[in-house]
Amino acid sequence: MSDIIYRVGVIGCGRKGTEHARAYVLNPRAEVVAAADSDPENLSLFGERFGVPTYANFQEMLRNEEIDIVSAVLPVSANYEVVMACADLGVKAICTEKPLASKLSDADAMVDECRRRGIKFGCGDLERNHEAYWRAKLIIDSGELGALRSISYYQGGGTQLSGGGCQNFSLMRLFAGDADVDFVIGWLTDDPWSEYDQGGSGYVRFVNGIEAFSHIRDTGRRGFELLCERGIIFSDNQFITMWKTSPDENHPTARSLERVDGVFSDTEGLHFGFGTIDDEGWERPGGRQRNTIQSMIDALDEDIEPRGNGDNGRNVLEMAIGWRESHRRGHVPVKLPLVDRSLRLFPVAGRMYNKKEVMGRDWYNKEMGRYKRA
Ligand SMILES: NC(=O)c1ccc[n+]([C@@H]2O[C@H](COP(=O)([O-])OP(=O)(O)OC[C@H]3O[C@@H](n4cnc5c(N)ncnc54)[C@H](O)[C@@H]3O)[C@@H](O)[C@H]2O)c1
Repeated sequence: MSDIIYRVGVIGCGRKGTEHARAYVLNPRAEVVAAADSDPENLSLFGERFGVPTYANFQEMLRNEEIDIVSAVLPVSANYEVVMACADLGVKAICTEKPLASKLSDADAMVDECRRRGIKFGCGDLERNHEAYWRAKLIIDSGELGALRSISYYQGGGTQLSGGGCQNFSLMRLFAGDADVDFVIGWLTDDPWSEYDQGGSGYVRFVNGIEAFSHIRDTGRRGFELLCERGIIFSDNQFITMWKTSPDENHPTARSLERVDGVFSDTEGLHFGFGTIDDEGWERPGGRQRNTIQSMIDALDEDIEPRGNGDNGRNVLEMAIGWRESHRRGHVPVKLPLVDRSLRLFPVAGRMYNKKEVMGRDWYNKEMGRYKRA
């Protein structure tokens, strides 16, 4: 195992940037060495909390501090400019947040630029980065449950297809082996002609024949199911369970499914610890966030892609826009990749712009106070 300690610079010292930073601090292979933000108040609080030099100008930070990994945790409206400038200033890895962009062409440009320069590009603290889902993927890939045929999401589309919805699209892609999407069919909840984010449901067909159905309405079942020839893995978004049919049944039915214990934890949920306070007064960032940071470190150590890379960020944006295009054209199947790269999907204001301005100072200061008790 490498003993390099990666030097991390955080650009965007708001809510999620604080969470990223705390996860780096808790990782023995990383050190937060500097921070930059255009908001002096957020920057100063971050400097006090993490004891690092702060910069109003992120380019200056990159020139002065020999940064290996940048976590650019910004409103979506700032992502393109900052990611492209970081790539130009020679960092080794960039971890940005989701959604990657509002415009497909911006997502394309960021992914291409990072790839061209050999920069490890991560996008989003995603469910798909979670260790437990990679264990589930290993089981599926081992063939223990037979081939994966279909994926079902319950309450999958959420109210923001490019916000929370992209978590689901990212998991679909993970279990479909990151195969290309052949076509999508979608229904949006509000106005398909709007360019603003909204909920939706639909169908995704991958080129390898795996299909995913996403149900948006509330039912007694919440989470998602991986339906394999000889078994099922079900996640209720907290706990994962595995079910198998007996090997001697030729035509297994639901009644022949038996739960296999001891594969996934029954006591520690996927978000175990999240939101609780540690001995130093910090809110625990949760396993997923820590796995996201670890994945950036592994990408550099092993010269592999981060689990939720920029290409995934681009693809899930495209799947969301694809559902909208399908609805616009009368719910017809829409082939991906989309030809028109000028298509856009604007996330909700609180993701697109600084939350302090969108939600107001009182709400915001309370939120920022959450992360570290005095
Ligand atoms: N993966 C997840 O579960 C998850 C959860 C929450 C937020 N997010 C994403 O994280 C991003 C940030 O969200 P947040 O809640 O931390 O927002 P925030 O408003 O609290 O933080 C954004 C920070 O970026 C700074 N900033 C804006 N433009 C800048 C620029 N050009 N240069 C330097 N600093 C700049 C702002 O001043 C602010 O401090 C959003 O894209 C959001 O969608 C993801």
